Amino acid sequence: MPTFDDSDLGPQSPLQKTASRDSQRHQRIPSRHGSLAVGSYGANLAIPDDGEGPIEVPATRSSIADAQAYMHSLSLSPSMRDRRGSRNSFGAALPIPRSKRRSRLSSVHYLGETEQRPGLPPVQPSREILAAQVQDLAHEKVRAAKDMAFVFDIDGVLVHGDRLIPEGKRVLEILNGDNQLGIKIPHIFLTNGSGKPEAARVDQLSKILHSPISTDQFIQSHTPMRALAEYYKTVLVVGGEGYKCREVAEEYGFQDIIVPNDIVAWDPTIAPYRVFTEEERKTARPRDFSKINIEAIMVFSDSRDYATDMQIIVDLLRSENGRLGTIAKDPVSQRIPIYFSQGDLLCPTEHPIPRMSQGAFRIGLEAMYKALTGVDLERVVYGKPELATYKYADEVLASWMEEIHNDQRLPSNIYMIGDNPASDIIGGNMYGWNTCLVRTGVFQGGENDEENPASFGVFANVLEAVQAAMRKELGQDFKFNFDERINPVLHGNSMSAIE
Ligand code: G3P
Ligand code: MG
Repeated sequence: MPTFDDSDLGPQSPLQKTASRDSQRHQRIPSRHGSLAVGSYGANLAIPDDGEGPIEVPATRSSIADAQAYMHSLSLSPSMRDRRGSRNSFGAALPIPRSKRRSRLSSVHYLGETEQRPGLPPVQPSREILAAQVQDLAHEKVRAAKDMAFVFDIDGVLVHGDRLIPEGKRVLEILNGDNQLGIKIPHIFLTNGSGKPEAARVDQLSKILHSPISTDQFIQSHTPMRALAEYYKTVLVVGGEGYKCREVAEEYGFQDIIVPNDIVAWDPTIAPYRVFTEEERKTARPRDFSKINIEAIMVFSDSRDYATDMQIIVDLLRSENGRLGTIAKDPVSQRIPIYFSQGDLLCPTEHPIPRMSQGAFRIGLEAMYKALTGVDLERVVYGKPELATYKYADEVLASWMEEIHNDQRLPSNIYMIGDNPASDIIGGNMYGWNTCLVRTGVFQGGENDEENPASFGVFANVLEAVQAAMRKELGQDFKFNFDERINPVLHGNSMSAIE
């Protein structure tokens, strides 16, 4: 099983350097159980120590704003000593949920279907029975098929927005059983996409890809942030269409969710450039926010209105403990934490040139914050290539193995297929996975990416990558379709082609 700790990063790894810098600079996020909390957040919730709560994963990216690298020096940075006094030292660990491992009974019984019926022609064996019989004769290949897995990036690999990348459809058919063994090859989806509940997103993807996708094999950027609901009660949730991210936060168990529209409906002067429609006013949930402390900001998805969202976020970051209408005397010690679901600068869409994504929004925000306050913003960024996201992927993959093969075990040979070297590939490489870079998305370079080369190679598309990986694990002559005409009962041991 791959592990991911400092020693895996190698001496030159930039993430290792930032992680160790952070461990000196930061204390812990407010602990769910109290024992690890060093910071002085007053907003900790009392949570029973049931031993089944979130797992706290050490941060691998620095929690300090990136903006400095992208801007001229606008103001003096605070000294290390000043920074140590920050109560906002939450960046050292990222909580992720423990997966709900469901015990499942082994596969369905097909007894009776193959029994002889006197006087009637034999029942044609079902595809599942045929596949089981084929698999019985091919132990080694079956073992190898269950010992490999794919982790798919979505945008730029399987789809562009709502448009199918045709090879993606074929890949899922192969992995769902249209292969020589008729076997399911384990695979999960790990996207930095966001903005709607998991069930709605897999429903949409299943339709585009013409294959069933389960929420149990699906992780989007904010999925692991579900764990944060155990740390914060009143949160501002930013991004996404309409009120979909409010729905996401409700599903994750956040108790008191505020979205920017609620605040604009309370005081329209807070966003002077916003044209607020009657419909928006009717659907918002205004309250007297001058009497409420917002405990944390969760940027779940891309902002649909940069001006309004940035204004409200900056107002809250500069406020006294998240109380709108106030300005903190000390911008660091009274600042509430801010979390982003992912950090990609660019996202491939239907548009020919990749569009700016949450990372670009964040860097803009960091620069504004620094310009206005003179201090760097500390923040946490989930999503690929953050370690917490990969650890969570392991949890999901092991659960999925149990679901499809009744075997709660991580396969040894995991292949990450992605289009973004700075996200999918760097993360997969550091986590010890084989990485495949495809040319259908963000990457448009030469032989391989120079900074973050894919370890297994660069491929024209996802189908080529999957076929190359399956040939490596299952044999160069492995066939990518299931031959339903084959009858192992009749052919018996003569099926030498299978082994
Ligand atoms: O960067 C935004 C997001 O849409 C990327 O998704 O699937 O390429 O990780 P994905
Ligand atoms: Mg992608």
